[in-house]
Amino acid sequence: MTTLIAAPVDAAAELVTTPRLMLSPRAITRSYRALRAALGDVTLYYAVKANPHPAVLAAIAEAGGCFDVASPAETGAALATGADASRLLSSNPMQSRPAIRHHHAAGIDTFVVDSLDEAHKVAAEAPGATLLARLATSGAGSDWSLAGKFGADPAEVFAILDLAPQLGLQAAGVAFHVGSQQREPERWIAPIDTAAGIFTALREHGHRPWLLDLGGGFPASHAVPCPPLAVYGRTIEAAVQAAFGAHRPRLIAEPGRALVGDAGVLEASVLGVAHRAGRRWVYLDAGIFNGLTETLGEAIHYRLRTSATGAPAAAVLAGPTCDSADVMYRCVDLPDDLAEGDRVWFAAAGVYTTSYASAFNGFAPLRTELTDTLPCVGCSRPTPWPAPRWRCPGRRCWPPSGRPRTTPRCSASPVRPGSRRACCCRRFWAASATGSDGFAPCAW
Ligand SMILES: Cc1ncc(COP(=O)(O)O)c(C=O)c1O
Repeated sequence: MTTLIAAPVDAAAELVTTPRLMLSPRAITRSYRALRAALGDVTLYYAVKANPHPAVLAAIAEAGGCFDVASPAETGAALATGADASRLLSSNPMQSRPAIRHHHAAGIDTFVVDSLDEAHKVAAEAPGATLLARLATSGAGSDWSLAGKFGADPAEVFAILDLAPQLGLQAAGVAFHVGSQQREPERWIAPIDTAAGIFTALREHGHRPWLLDLGGGFPASHAVPCPPLAVYGRTIEAAVQAAFGAHRPRLIAEPGRALVGDAGVLEASVLGVAHRAGRRWVYLDAGIFNGLTETLGEAIHYRLRTSATGAPAAAVLAGPTCDSADVMYRCVDLPDDLAEGDRVWFAAAGVYTTSYASAFNGFAPLRTELTDTLPCVGCSRPTPWPAPRWRCPGRRCWPPSGRPRTTPRCSASPVRPGSRRACCCRRFWAASATGSDGFAPCAW
């Protein structure tokens, strides 16, 4: 039987300053403006799930943003900013009837569904609502795939929208999500094309679809570099023009990570270091269960910096709980003198950290501290564009053209500070005091 501790107990709470998320509202405003500039006339609905902190929502509301909400609690939080309900979108394709009723009563009129049954539910609980049908995508190219659980095939998306008027709903158009931290802007092209085909079929059946929801997926600056946001904007705009021509729909998006990710730095402390079976294990007071959930499966590679300055050497990086799953990275270069009490900073941790954090093992969920002076964790640099396409079916890399070549080992080989590692095994780490792996050195 599991015993839950209602209030996490910390025997020396007054001594504990980490783990914490340092979050800059001013940086959120900057990110909002940057994404707006990159995406042109796309209306941004911030995905509240990414980080629902009141200061985040206030910054988004103040910047003129709208909100994508997944639950009644998120609706309440978004409305608490003073935003009108017309600026809210209910994007969760599978909800309870009370939740749909709650959104509707709060004044939300646009709902995303991905099945005929759910369309019937929305018709019953939110009569007259505006409907978007969610198209499935593969999630390929993204670091955190959202494929499989949600999304219908094009025929079903058409069937949902074709049925909508008979249910008393407005058939507005199509939504999709290409996967979070999507590193390849061209992944928007196929769903935009498919959506245009569905719009054409709907028009032929007498409908007037008018809305295309481009979802989220725009990147934050994690360790594996992405193209600049402008490339995402240009790619999407070209795809929309090519696919829709004169029938251009109104465009909206549901970004989370790109708006708030870079506005946060997670600070953790080293609890201790152990050596087992030839490996160095570094244990932090933050882990999978209290903030670093997106390291599950080593999906998200955070840029790291430490207070120690020794030579980079391989380590296993683990969290504080007694659970063996609480291991963030199995092989990461960290200074060889890293010791108890040292600090480790995780860049671009403003999203999907506090919102996932639990009190597992009695450790307090990650707390937030607002600041407008974030520690610098190495400066990210966008990848060159067009990006080279590496394939890595093992220890050898195939560049876009040319002969296969042996990659540097992803494991124990030290990284020279300031050097760029050409490994395509997706283990690019910025661990040294001066920055590495393509991240420019910066004074801290
Ligand atoms: C429906 C929906 N919209 C938007 C987002 C935000 O995605 P991102 O943070 O990649 O922009 C998510 C993330 O899970 C989502 O599920």
